[in-house]
Amino acid sequence: MEAEARKKLVAEKFSELFGGQPQLWSRAPGRVDLMGSHTDYNLGYVMTMTIDQDTWIAARARQDGRVCIRSLNAAGGGDFALDSLEQSRGCNWTDYVRGTAWALQQAGYRLTGFDGLVHSTVPFGSGLSSSAALEMACAVMFQQTSDLKLDPVEMALIGQAGENQYVGMNCGILDQYSSALGQAGSALLLDCRSLTSQVTPMAAGINVVICDTRAERNLAGTEYGERRAQCEQGVEMLRSHYPDIEALRDIRFEQLESHRAELPEVVYKRCRFIIQENQRVLDLAQALPGGDRLRLSELFRDSYQGARDLYQISAPAMEAMLQAMLAAPGVIGARQTGAGFGGCMVGLVEEGQLAAFAGQVLNDYAQRTGIQPQVYPVIASPGAGLLG
Ligand code: GLA
Repeated sequence: MEAEARKKLVAEKFSELFGGQPQLWSRAPGRVDLMGSHTDYNLGYVMTMTIDQDTWIAARARQDGRVCIRSLNAAGGGDFALDSLEQSRGCNWTDYVRGTAWALQQAGYRLTGFDGLVHSTVPFGSGLSSSAALEMACAVMFQQTSDLKLDPVEMALIGQAGENQYVGMNCGILDQYSSALGQAGSALLLDCRSLTSQVTPMAAGINVVICDTRAERNLAGTEYGERRAQCEQGVEMLRSHYPDIEALRDIRFEQLESHRAELPEVVYKRCRFIIQENQRVLDLAQALPGGDRLRLSELFRDSYQGARDLYQISAPAMEAMLQAMLAAPGVIGARQTGAGFGGCMVGLVEEGQLAAFAGQVLNDYAQRTGIQPQVYPVIASPGAGLLG
């Protein structure tokens, strides 16, 4: 849908729900990681990129300390007081809104509430950070209603704090950082320790394509937290040899190998993946601007194989999608994106072959699984801000 038509639709629905016109607009994009699965909470690197699917909020400030939030995409809304968030959880998508408000207040900001209507084109639960997009769109909205000016890195940290401490999902900084600081037209090489990033352009002629398995994904389950705990256990054990290490980021591959026998096999596998994946992010930063096809393809292949065999975050639907992608015309590389356990895969595809690639993947995957996937190219849109 064109931006104008979308804005008109949201404004109409806003006035049906709340009466009158929205006065403030914010937007924040979803993201796709091109390399660096689960490296963020290990304080490593990620090659990340915003996508052109985003979340909008149309709003009007209210002066009674309340937020009333609805969505055009999701049932159930929330109507809550800003001064009693600890006691009131929505137990639905509105907890991302409440969590962002809660974290802003924890950071000492005084908030003015609003009537808000959300409209999102970021698919839910597919691993493209629909929740972070909502959090960042909310953070931008609160800045407008409450007359605040937050640095985008602080905004990302506040979104993460809300998600960790209010929603209860122990995610890293990747999603919020990408949504807050993403750059139009480029990928970002993100350093999750220093929270700095470098714009990394991609060679002309290469397209990023999302291949959504549409398979059930249950990330909030124990798996994500378990992986995180296993990495921490690895750091803990290796610290007896290397007292200065803080995270897997600080361990070299040879160091891990020389203590392999001391680690439980599963912990070793997790650590090995993260250390290698970190290096692959740096290697991708070298390969992406020049577009070295062979190198890109190897890096994507190794990342997926490590995710499947060492980090064990793949799923049958992801494997089926990988096979469909690798058999399709124009493919350069294919790998997982997001947390894994279903959700989306991401491909690098020759621009001239986009249609042929998409057509074949749609058929091939549907035949393999009986599920109708979604396949679409994405381009990097600007990070969160006012809707222009
Ligand atoms: C989810 C989390 C992120 C990150 C990725 C895996 O998207 O929210 O913090 O850990 O998984 O890279």
